[in-house]
Amino acid sequence: MTTISPSVVVTPPVDASTVVLGIETSCDETAAAVVMGGSDVLSSVVASQLDEHARFGGVVPEIASRAHLEALPQVTAQALNRANIDYSRIDAVAATVGPGLIGALLVGVAAAKTTALALGVPFVGVNHLEAHLYAALLDEPNTEFPMLFVLVSGGHTLFVEMTDAHSYRVIGQTIDDAAGEAFDKVARFLGLPYPGGPAIDKAALRGDESAITFPRAMMNDGLDVSFSGVKTAVINHVRANPGATTDDVAASFQRAVVDVLVHKARRAAKQVGAKTLALGGGVAANSLLRREMASAAQADGIAIVLPSREMCTDNAAMIASAGWYRLARGEVSSLDTGANPNLKLGAGQR
Ligand code: KG4
Ligand code: ZN
Repeated sequence: MTTISPSVVVTPPVDASTVVLGIETSCDETAAAVVMGGSDVLSSVVASQLDEHARFGGVVPEIASRAHLEALPQVTAQALNRANIDYSRIDAVAATVGPGLIGALLVGVAAAKTTALALGVPFVGVNHLEAHLYAALLDEPNTEFPMLFVLVSGGHTLFVEMTDAHSYRVIGQTIDDAAGEAFDKVARFLGLPYPGGPAIDKAALRGDESAITFPRAMMNDGLDVSFSGVKTAVINHVRANPGATTDDVAASFQRAVVDVLVHKARRAAKQVGAKTLALGGGVAANSLLRREMASAAQADGIAIVLPSREMCTDNAAMIASAGWYRLARGEVSSLDTGANPNLKLGAGQR
């Protein structure tokens, strides 16, 4: 049996000219990107599988793995092409090792390790949640620390304190549903199309947000949040009031979720003496959340980083960037690194 010795890989000096190829396949987006020096995005290609999953009302893991396998070679070639470089210019290859769907993750991890081995450059395993933090720094490289980062996605709702570009700590999180999960479940119940977040965002524009007062849970309890109660309240309300208009329900639900997130973000920012408040994850594309977080930050005299919608949702530029920061800390992953579907933020790499 041939063993692969990580010592064959020579770590290059990591600086502003270090080019990292990033690969992201944790869920339903196949993405590849080329980033130089941690923040200079030379290309970022995202192929969405949305159409393939929409008719099932959610992501189907087997479909996701197969679609990644089919799309990744082309997506990677396109990323190199758009960056106007060839493989010889790549100094390291980074890929998401978790959290995510195991089969989907393995496609990207295997491709990244093979590419790194063939090129004789380091492979860097990246925590997807950590990468979302770096998306904010990518959009705003002059971020002032400490920063309070609100990560709101389909699978996670985390309040993270970042004291510098390399140090972070989770200080609050959901005790049940993630914010995006609540949006998706409520939308599904209301008969709105998948994914639910954008559909509720749109319906809410036509609705009256003060029509129904939905519960705002745990407002006075620390920095954790809970969204399963508001979801149940929506279901109970609609069952008891069949005449309620979908737009009013959507607007009132969205208002309740946003109120909770803004309230907790302000409390967390105050607790850590944040100079900057940043958002990330798919729910950070929500128009009301963006508006309300921006005005809260302004009222509290702190800077706000609202990454572009492309940077909030899953992409590989944030993976390449997080990979660069890991390399800069001398963290290279071994080629026997596997995928970890339950990887936590702050748990480090295996
Ligand atoms: O970060 P993301 O692209 O994937 C992961 O979960 O990692 O987030 C997807 C989530 C879904 O729950 C989707 O409904 C939600 O983000 N989302 C939104 C909006 N756009 C996407 N939620 C509320 N308003 C939006 N405009
Ligand atoms: Zn994500």
